[in-house]
Amino acid sequence: MLIYILRKRLTALSRWGRLKNWLEFHIFLCTWGTIMVLFHTSFKFGGIISVGFWTLAVVWLSGFIGRYLYIQIPRTIEDRIMTLNEVIELKNKNIELLSTKYHISISDISRKEISKIRLRLLAENFSKKEIRKAVRLALNEKILEGRIKRLEQMLKIFHYWHIAHVPLTALMIFILIIHVSVVLFFGYKWIF
Ligand code: HEM
Repeated sequence: MLIYILRKRLTALSRWGRLKNWLEFHIFLCTWGTIMVLFHTSFKFGGIISVGFWTLAVVWLSGFIGRYLYIQIPRTIEDRIMTLNEVIELKNKNIELLSTKYHISISDISRKEISKIRLRLLAENFSKKEIRKAVRLALNEKILEGRIKRLEQMLKIFHYWHIAHVPLTALMIFILIIHVSVVLFFGYKWIF
């Protein structure tokens, strides 16, 4: 969890793989961590420490909402959030490529029309690889259109989502420190 935060914030670590992959790793570790904690509780959720457990559960669940919002926001190859102008520029580039190279206009792009487009490109002797590329581009175009419409709204919701996810994590760590301190104070020792 901490590595993700460091990778995201420190420019010195910007060469350490794509942020997107670190986020996947964050999700993987946090999910396994939550399962381990669940076993650690022996499925008993009483006492003050249960606040810590439920905080963890809420953070974990809220992660899925965050993940959904995260993928709605277009990013550059370096995982920086794109500005509205950049997204529009990308969209225009895609439209131009679709119309000049594949003779596809945006009005043609609908799920129903895709199979017709595929057949036409096949008749025009495009290779299968090229057809796949054109179809992916056309479908991305539709997705991008929706994302542009919702971009501002999604950015706002994502911002508010951080307000829930991050302080709850801090609260969870705070309760965890108290929990471990109390346990050590009452004489628990490392098992080996
Ligand atoms: C239960 C354990 C978890 C903890 C303690 C935790 C903690 C955090 C923290 C502290 C951040 C802030 C990073 C930052 O703003 O720099 C973060 C970001 C994030 N987490 Fe988690 N997380 C957990 C689980 C999950 C899960 C299960 C998911 C997805 C299914 C998830 C998805 C995300 C996403 C999408 C971000 C935002 C990334 C960004 O803005 O760059 N998290 N998490």
